[in-house]
Amino acid sequence: MNNLAQDIDFLTQKKSGVKRLTLTDYRNYASLRISSELCPIVITGDNGSGKTNILEAISFLTPGRGLRGARLSDIRRISPAIVGDDYIPSNASWAVSAMISKNGEEFEIGTAVENFLKEDNDESGIYNKRIVKIDGQRSSVQAELGNYFSAIWLTPQMDRLFRGGSQPRRSFLDRLVYTFDNDHAKRTAVFEGLYKQWYQLIRNSNGKVDKLWLEGIEENMAAMGVAIAAARREQIARLNAFIENEPDDVFPDVELQLDGTIEKMLATLPAVDVEDFYMQKLASERNKVLCNENVDGVNRADFKVFYKKKNMPAELCSTGEQKSLLISIILAQTKCQILYQDFSPVLLLDEVAAHLDDIKREALLSKITDLGLQAWITSTNPELFGSLKNKAQFFELKNNSLLEK
Ligand SMILES: Nc1ncnc2c1ncn2[C@@H]1O[C@H](COP(=O)(O)OP(=O)(O)OP(=O)(O)O)[C@@H](O)[C@H]1O
Ligand SMILES: [Mg+2]
Repeated sequence: MNNLAQDIDFLTQKKSGVKRLTLTDYRNYASLRISSELCPIVITGDNGSGKTNILEAISFLTPGRGLRGARLSDIRRISPAIVGDDYIPSNASWAVSAMISKNGEEFEIGTAVENFLKEDNDESGIYNKRIVKIDGQRSSVQAELGNYFSAIWLTPQMDRLFRGGSQPRRSFLDRLVYTFDNDHAKRTAVFEGLYKQWYQLIRNSNGKVDKLWLEGIEENMAAMGVAIAAARREQIARLNAFIENEPDDVFPDVELQLDGTIEKMLATLPAVDVEDFYMQKLASERNKVLCNENVDGVNRADFKVFYKKKNMPAELCSTGEQKSLLISIILAQTKCQILYQDFSPVLLLDEVAAHLDDIKREALLSKITDLGLQAWITSTNPELFGSLKNKAQFFELKNNSLLEK
């Protein structure tokens, strides 16, 4: 066993994950409470029984919009009794809370969405606000959750990750970055807000732009954008180096690349110069906004993945190969988190067996148990997970409740 493998082996003796999960008015669940152990958890049930909803709820214990990228207002439980013209949402909308263990230390964390009525002269209506709670203390900073809990997910929607537009790939990469750089979630949200403001200002200007105001926004966008690009580069370099040193024995070797103007410039120029360049670039691209053309920058960067041995871009690989490439990335990220962050992420694997051959499915399951991970695994077919007998908790979903098998 080499040094790196020994370190991972040592660190996986400390375990992290969810020990109790409580959902309130969350999609199909009026209320659900699960006591879970720090091991694989296999949840089976028919289509529509609520498997993915449980994984999504856990994903809301991390910053962002969960594994479906859902609108907060779609998650509140709809029941026949509360649908209709007279339905008035109550103040508390939905909530997910959990007792989690981080290397043996226990914490209560949770997130809730509250509805509130805002009455303004021009705008009034019901708004949603997401709050987080850590050991009873309310916080509006979602990124704080990252100090206690981390989750990586793989969903059937991600089977198309390499084939469609670049936005989901960027979000996937940005989530990998969050764990190592807690401010990254905030930075990407701030950049998005600035971009919208900048875009609207130009669109609504009728040719009379307030130059000073625009320049101020562009300066902030450039600073934030360069920090985003640098953090992405750092994470890609970390994962590539890890994969180079510790190639997996079953899942394919991947090479990760970043295709973005700002990210590429950072390879040769100091950050301050790239920031100046980005500011000038934004000013010169104001016309593109008026012509409805794409504006280049960190908002357009793409995350490229290659199947190293075959020298094949991921988008040209088969469906099962693409899933295996994603699993390679997720395993490398998990091991890097264990090594450098000192606590393991929880894996949320929705219908993970689909498209994997028997050898790969079994390899993945044994890697999860070897690494001592808590992995929430869903399937319509419990027979695929027979090898986890005595190593995992098995639940079956029926009529919105969970029965331990
Ligand atoms: N806001 C909501 N209120 C009530 N029910 C909802 C809400 N949003 C989604 N649902 C319902 O929750 C149910 C379970 O959905 P989920 O995606 O968890 O099922 P699943 O077990 O993963 O199914 P599949 O095997 O098809 O993936 C669905 O019937 C869906 O319509
Ligand atoms: Mg599902």
